[in-house]
Amino acid sequence: MAPFRKFGVLFLLLCFVFTVQSVDRDNFKTCEQSSFCRRCRKVEAGKSPYQLLANTVSQNYSTLFAELFNKDTGVYYVLQLTALEENTFRLHINEKNPLKPRYEVEHALQGVPNQIKLTISEKTDDHTTVTNGPSKIVIYHTPLKIDSYFGDQLVISANARGLMRFEHLRTKVEKPTEGEEGAIVEEVISEYPGDGAESDPGAWEENFKSHHDSKPNGPEAIALDFSFPGAEFAYGIPQHADSFALKSTKGIDPYRLYNLDVFEYEVNERMALYGSIPVLYAHGKELTSGVFWHNAAETWVDIRSSTDNNVVESIVNFVSGGVKKPQVDAHFISESGVIDVFFLLGPSPLDTFRQYTLLTGVTPLPQLFTLGYHQCRWNYNDEQDVIDVNRNFDQYNISMDVMWLDIEYTDNKKYFTWDSRKFSKPLEMIENLTNVGRKLVVIIDPHIKRDNGYFIHNDATDNGYYVKHADGKDYEGWCWPGSSSYLDFFSPKIRDYFGDQYGLDKFHGTTNDVYIWNDMNEPSVFNGPEITMPKDLIHYGGWEHRDVHNINGLMFTSVTYDALIKRSQGTRRPFVLTRSHFAGSQRYAAVWTGDNAAEWSHLRISYPMCLSTAVAGMSFCGADIGGFFKNPDAELFTRWNQAGVWLPFFRQHAHIETKRREPWLFDDNTTRRVRDAIALRYSYLPLWYTLFREHEIKGYPVIRPLWAHYPAEFNSFAIDDQLLVGDAILVRPVTEASVTEVTVYFPGEGKDKWYDINTMEEYSTPGNVRIPVNIDMIPVYQRSGTIVPRKMRNRRSSVAMKDDPYTLVVIGDNMKKASGTLYIDDETSFEYRQGKYIYLQLFFDGNVLSSKHIDKLNKFETKSWLERVNIVNAPQNVKSAKLVTKSGSTTLEVNFNPNNKVLTIRKPAVNMGEEWTIELIR
Ligand SMILES: *[C@@H]1O[C@H](CO)[C@@H](O)[C@H](O)[C@H]1NC(C)=O
Ligand SMILES: *[C@@H]1O[C@H](CO)[C@@H](O)[C@H](O)[C@H]1NC(C)=O
Ligand SMILES: *[C@@H]1O[C@H](CO)[C@@H](O)[C@H](O)[C@H]1NC(C)=O
Ligand SMILES: *[C@@H]1O[C@H](CO)[C@@H](O)[C@H](O)[C@H]1NC(C)=O
Repeated sequence: MAPFRKFGVLFLLLCFVFTVQSVDRDNFKTCEQSSFCRRCRKVEAGKSPYQLLANTVSQNYSTLFAELFNKDTGVYYVLQLTALEENTFRLHINEKNPLKPRYEVEHALQGVPNQIKLTISEKTDDHTTVTNGPSKIVIYHTPLKIDSYFGDQLVISANARGLMRFEHLRTKVEKPTEGEEGAIVEEVISEYPGDGAESDPGAWEENFKSHHDSKPNGPEAIALDFSFPGAEFAYGIPQHADSFALKSTKGIDPYRLYNLDVFEYEVNERMALYGSIPVLYAHGKELTSGVFWHNAAETWVDIRSSTDNNVVESIVNFVSGGVKKPQVDAHFISESGVIDVFFLLGPSPLDTFRQYTLLTGVTPLPQLFTLGYHQCRWNYNDEQDVIDVNRNFDQYNISMDVMWLDIEYTDNKKYFTWDSRKFSKPLEMIENLTNVGRKLVVIIDPHIKRDNGYFIHNDATDNGYYVKHADGKDYEGWCWPGSSSYLDFFSPKIRDYFGDQYGLDKFHGTTNDVYIWNDMNEPSVFNGPEITMPKDLIHYGGWEHRDVHNINGLMFTSVTYDALIKRSQGTRRPFVLTRSHFAGSQRYAAVWTGDNAAEWSHLRISYPMCLSTAVAGMSFCGADIGGFFKNPDAELFTRWNQAGVWLPFFRQHAHIETKRREPWLFDDNTTRRVRDAIALRYSYLPLWYTLFREHEIKGYPVIRPLWAHYPAEFNSFAIDDQLLVGDAILVRPVTEASVTEVTVYFPGEGKDKWYDINTMEEYSTPGNVRIPVNIDMIPVYQRSGTIVPRKMRNRRSSVAMKDDPYTLVVIGDNMKKASGTLYIDDETSFEYRQGKYIYLQLFFDGNVLSSKHIDKLNKFETKSWLERVNIVNAPQNVKSAKLVTKSGSTTLEVNFNPNNKVLTIRKPAVNMGEEWTIELIR
């Protein structure tokens, strides 16, 4: 949750006054109010002072080394360019002799990236060329410019505009106070004009509102520009409540990456939110590429596009077809650290997304239940409330897997404790949930109540576990518990200590069926600068909070993830939900879009927000269904549930002051529609689960923009009110009030056809089509050429579906062919990593449908069998079907529905672990 605007007495008053407000911009800095952003943004194009000293070039197996020289400051730098697997290069620049070490990000990469041989293929006075498979980099020496090619095509040009800036560490020159008697003004004589940082009043200290930043290191910003010739649009750099395709920031503030708890955030804004993932993709008709800016300090990103000459500012309105080759430019600006950037050279969208996950990792396959429906609210008040809500889901036949408890379950916001009055028998309550196949998630936040009766506070104080001021005193801030301090999750010792608190022997009243929600981990500090920690606090290793701010939340969730594995002794896959996130957070947690509001615009923005996060490695994303603040009416609530079905994380959540909104609290028709939406989600769990497994193997996002599969289809590039689930399902949620028609864009230029998943009606007209809608459902289509697995029995929870039989939905393409995959395992443990799984290739050649194991490690035994095959667009006059397994053949009944032209093969009844074929008999 977000803090209230004020705290103390006023805060308590506000708690009970529900007012409609919007974001308080004054709480957050603009680029102009941030001295490093101001300085870097002012750099003039075309005057880069950096040059590579050709006589210093050397190399080892995978890395080229060279020195750089800045002719304005006389400072030397070391450049390293490393060749990595799969068309990826890493560029690293640091000062040759920094006054003290500069921060290098740890913990975002999943390990040391795999290096491959780098060949210097050309070296002249003017430039040096290195190659790595089909990709190559040309480094121009004076001024420095680094051009990345895929084949002969220039893909990314770094410092092409000359906006690079690397502020070297320096000692502060104390100027005598003006007018001081007898003061001798010493003039610093230097042959270099300098970088101008000294004359910035914010260089050595900075104030924002009532907060003072002491800046002991002075100016230390870094910045670099990237141009992407041929790219029409840029994407990525979440988290912002804005369109998926990035907008030009000419004349407005850059996109900001600084993890913040923003109260009542607004949509269509480039302001910072809870998470920061500094990976940017550029996409044009011919290729896709990306840059991953490996830096955890506050970062701003300016975007320019070919449309900047256009009167229309938004690049979304850009009409191509002009003579000029399109181009997107980006300018990354960070407060501290080093230049460490990965060039992802594609060439396809999926290749580029995969290249990013090779560096930062994937989301490990979650337990199946986590893909079911989650019911949350701030707060379920007590055990009786939990029992009642749980019972009502059964009463109303609505599937649900997880009940959630927000902060009020604790004893006065002391995490790892229970309010014993409201929750006197937590184990019995949990058993009541697990008896019906459900789970519990409880919240654990990072702020620690400063209370002498609280063991964590005492341990942390005694052992020096809190983040500290520069003078060594524990930092005290204000958060939910009142006066709070913050553990330093960068210290291995403190990580171990905190991880131990999750143990079943310590966290009483919980079991292995209880999972964890980490909120407020930006960290949120109600009375801190910009509602977070001061930048001059000191973390483990002596690093300033400034250096590590954006990765702070990841450090907290990674402790939780590891602790959940430990507490189940490795028998259960963890589930952690985080609000703050950074590059690499996908390895530990699912994420949601934070404290949205019950407004149509917030429903609308949930798709682009999760798409941005998904291409940045974190597919497991959702938005609070119904909106966190304010009260949705029945229509908005219905539409939000229908849309939420098709985002990976599917949770309803609401603010403490909103009206109760469990699905049966509206009218009967709304209850029915929400029940149907949730049932639809459950019927597609086999598809979601297979996609999550394939994400783990291949690094492809689970939900995808249209251009991931239609990369040359220009008209799809700016579409973000639709998405693809895998490559088979196209979703267009209804995010407009009281409409009877919406526009659906059908990609594929007519080569692909789309079938309404409910009626199986065919849509073969490509491009924008007006589609009638009613309130009962939203437009969702399955693509021709695909086979989608489903489970059609409606159950109270996913656990109850484990052994249920499968239905296959087969839709032939123009050649009547179709293919798909299905992944099955025990849905909970890590045994799949020892080969206990079934992974099937399903293929239909127009006449024969077959199921084959993709690899031979199929050691898992399932009770599930094949109940039904629906073939859409089936051949005519099929009389029966012949099932062939290794134990013989059987004749199967078929049924043709002339209305929707679906041929149903009934009860093949073959176990899903067997290989089989089904032939259509005419
Ligand atoms: C090449 O040098 C880099 C940077 O010092 C180092 O990380 C890498 O391991 C070296 N590679 C080999 C193969 O020695
Ligand atoms: C729930 O399902 C049961 C069994 O199918 C049925 O008897 C009951 O009427 C349903 N209840 C509601 C509220 O739909
Ligand atoms: C558990 O369920 C039983 C039976 O419905 C009920 O009597 C009991 O109060 C529940 N206990 C808790 C702690 O929820
Ligand atoms: C519920 O839906 C049914 C069928 O569409 C309709 O006849 C009925 O009037 C609706 N009830 C309400 C209260 O809107």
